[in-house]
Amino acid sequence: MLTMKFFIETFGCQMNVYDSELVTGILIKNGYEQISNINKADILFLNTCAIREKAVERVIHKMEQYAHLKKKGDLKIAGVLGCIPQYSSDRLKKELPFIDILSGPDNYDKLPQMISECLKNKKIQENLELNEEQNYDDILPFIKNKFSSFVTIMRGCNNFCSYCVVPYVRGRERSRSAGSILRETSDAVSKGITEITLLGQNVNSYKSEGVSFPALLEKVSEIEGLKRLRFATSHPKDISDELIKVTAENKKICKHLHLPFQAGSNEVLKRMNRGYTKDEYLIKIENIRNSIPEIALTTDTIVGFPDETEEDFLQTLEVIEQAGFDNSFMFIYSEREHTYAKKNFKDNISKKIKSERLKKVAELQKKIGLEQIGNDVGKTKEILVESVSKKRKTEMMGRTGQNRIVIFESDDTIKAGDYINVHITGAEGVSLFGEIRN
Ligand code: SAH
Ligand code: SF4
Ligand code: F3S
Repeated sequence: MLTMKFFIETFGCQMNVYDSELVTGILIKNGYEQISNINKADILFLNTCAIREKAVERVIHKMEQYAHLKKKGDLKIAGVLGCIPQYSSDRLKKELPFIDILSGPDNYDKLPQMISECLKNKKIQENLELNEEQNYDDILPFIKNKFSSFVTIMRGCNNFCSYCVVPYVRGRERSRSAGSILRETSDAVSKGITEITLLGQNVNSYKSEGVSFPALLEKVSEIEGLKRLRFATSHPKDISDELIKVTAENKKICKHLHLPFQAGSNEVLKRMNRGYTKDEYLIKIENIRNSIPEIALTTDTIVGFPDETEEDFLQTLEVIEQAGFDNSFMFIYSEREHTYAKKNFKDNISKKIKSERLKKVAELQKKIGLEQIGNDVGKTKEILVESVSKKRKTEMMGRTGQNRIVIFESDDTIKAGDYINVHITGAEGVSLFGEIRN
């Protein structure tokens, strides 16, 4: 029998990027071949995100665009994986009646079996149980990137921020064993990876067999050949002094912290169930900056949460002004099924006001971000070269330990994956510009 070929496309967060590598690992191990040309695929998987309504609409639209391949008969199986099937399988079946496979994030080990069943019976295969034991500990992901990769250290979330669908689509929080994380990381490093990002919705609450998150960071950092260690996401309520200390002292741990604050008003934070006040957040940041002066901070911000007044919103602007983030992911509140906010609050801020507020946070963040990264002008920084720059072929881009983007005029000797020193000469938008220093 000819080898069946699959094509997988990923939407959503870094955890989904990692999960697609898991799925790829599982399918390759079972004899399937990965290809990058959708027109030649027998099997198509979209690994999806349900965090906001737009994310769902985007995936449905994308799958509709692929419908003709299924009709033509070239494509035997079209499947939707990840958070949208878990969020609303009924909607997918209604809007995409040609779908063959629906799998939630805890059922990827069953995909080979589901594919076989589907080919045999021509019936839709669904596996949407959440499994609190599922950590895929024994499965090695198929890593695409040659020098940088993700390692998921925990799955699910127990925080139940009132707006957020993640606890419903990913289930309860569980930590992988330190042993399996170390095995996977060592394997990646032995294949040439020099930068690892440890992933979880709330990495600070990692705990397995007595190993805390700071202890895990220390253990992973000891792997020979690993140069840079990153992690995301940190929840402000769980940032410990120990984590700050380890980050400050350990040379391999990058001096960058992604610390979503979401909103500035204490009223809104309370209704979001975030577990901290504006002042507590700002004090944490001050402590972090005192202990790690070179730290770069990034964040997530939501505007237009139910009942957010103009006064509430001004508090959000104040946090952005005071905290000095390099960058922020900024979102308009999107009401989600299952959530506490949907059940208890009315999505009552008009589209117009939401958009105006988004524009205002974006403008302020742009100014503050440029000031922050501008502090690097005149310094020499080590960067990990990632790729040829999008704008000009003679230029390349890389990142500093603080995760700041640096664009530089390259030469023939430099390639993606190299660590080089660059003298920073300028800053524009969210990027630094520099010249190679030997
Ligand atoms: N676990 C991470 C974030 C996961 S989701 C954390 O707690 O920080 C990524 C971001 O999406 C969130 O930080 C939040 O800013 C945004 N988000 C989540 N649910 C949302 C919703 N219903 N509407 C708009 N933005 C949302
Ligand atoms: Fe969602 Fe909150 Fe969990 Fe982050 S911590 S995934 S925002 S519930
Ligand atoms: Fe989206 Fe699921 Fe990640 S909802 S943000 S892909 S955990």
